[in-house]
Amino acid sequence: MPVYHLFFSPCSSTYDTTYAFCRAISEHAPIEVNLTDRETKVPEMPEGSVAVVAAPVYGGRIPSVMARKLERAKMKGVKAVTFVVYGGRAYEDALIEINDLCEKAGAEILASAATLAAHVFLPDLERGRPDQKDFEEIRDFGRRVCEKYASGRFTPVTVPGNRPYQEGYKAGFVPETDTALCRRCGVCIAVCPTGAINPKDPSQTDINLCINCMRCAASCQTGAKAVPAKAKAMVTAYLSGFLGKRKADEFYL
Ligand SMILES: Cc1cc2nc3c(=O)[nH]c(=O)nc-3n(C[C@H](O)[C@H](O)[C@H](O)COP(=O)(O)O)c2cc1C
Ligand code: SF4
Ligand code: SF4
Repeated sequence: MPVYHLFFSPCSSTYDTTYAFCRAISEHAPIEVNLTDRETKVPEMPEGSVAVVAAPVYGGRIPSVMARKLERAKMKGVKAVTFVVYGGRAYEDALIEINDLCEKAGAEILASAATLAAHVFLPDLERGRPDQKDFEEIRDFGRRVCEKYASGRFTPVTVPGNRPYQEGYKAGFVPETDTALCRRCGVCIAVCPTGAINPKDPSQTDINLCINCMRCAASCQTGAKAVPAKAKAMVTAYLSGFLGKRKADEFYL
C-alpha cells in the first residue's frame, strides 16, 4: 500500500512527529506532500492508499489554509490516519475538524491521534517534545494501526471535539522585521503559506492574511523576523498558566 504523508508544518514539529509514524507503518519512505507550501494541493491518491494527514493546532482548530485545501481534496477509497499536534494548552475541536474534512473528501478514518510538541510561542511549554517517549508511543500506535488495517475490520473512530466548532484562530499581530538584519533575500516571502508578506518589501505583512504560523521567522537565516515584544509578553503571560505536568499523547483506533 502506498503511504502518503500530507502535512502542514511551518515550524517542523508536526512533520517530525508524523514522519516517524509513517516510517513505523511502512518500510518505504512515504510520498511527501508539504501542504505548508502555498501552491501545493492534496493530490489524487489511488484507492487503497493510506494517507497520514497531519496539522498543528491553532486556537483549537486546524490552520484555516490547511482546512481550505482539505475542502477541495478528493480522497475516495483512501484510508486516513489523522494527527493533530499541539503545544500543551488544548486541541479542542481540531481533531474532529480534520476527521470531518477527510470524511467529506471521501476518506475513511482508520485511526487518529493528538500528540504534543513544544509550543511555538512558549517553548518551555512541553519543552523537548516530541521526545523519545513520544516516538516510542507513536511507533506502538503504528503497530496497532497496521493490525487494524490488516484485520479488514474498520470500526468507526470517535474523537473528542464539538460541532459546531469553536471560532477559528485570528492573527492578533504580525511578525516584525529587524531591517538592520534583513538581507532582502526573499526566503520569507517564498515560504509564507498565505502570501501575507509584501513581495516588494519583506518588512510589510498583511494582518488579514497572516495566520501567525511563524514559518517566516523559522526560515530566516539572519533571525530578522520575530514576534513583536508586546505580543510576546501577552502570549507568554497567558500560556505560562499551562506550564506544569507533562500532557499525554492520545490515540484513537
Ligand atoms: C498561531 C498558533 C496558534 C496555536 N494555538 C495552539 C492551541 O490552540 N493549543 C495548543 O496547545 N497549541 C497551540 N499552538 C502551538 C502549536 O500547535 C505547536 O507549537 C505545534 O507543534 C506547531 O507545529 P509546527 O512545529 O509543525 O509548526 C499554536 C501555535 C501557533 C503558531
Ligand atoms: S528571510 Fe529574513 S533576511 Fe530574507 S527577506 Fe525575509 S526577513 Fe529578510
Ligand atoms: S507572515 Fe504570517 S502567515 Fe506568513 S509565514 Fe510569517 S507568520 Fe506565517
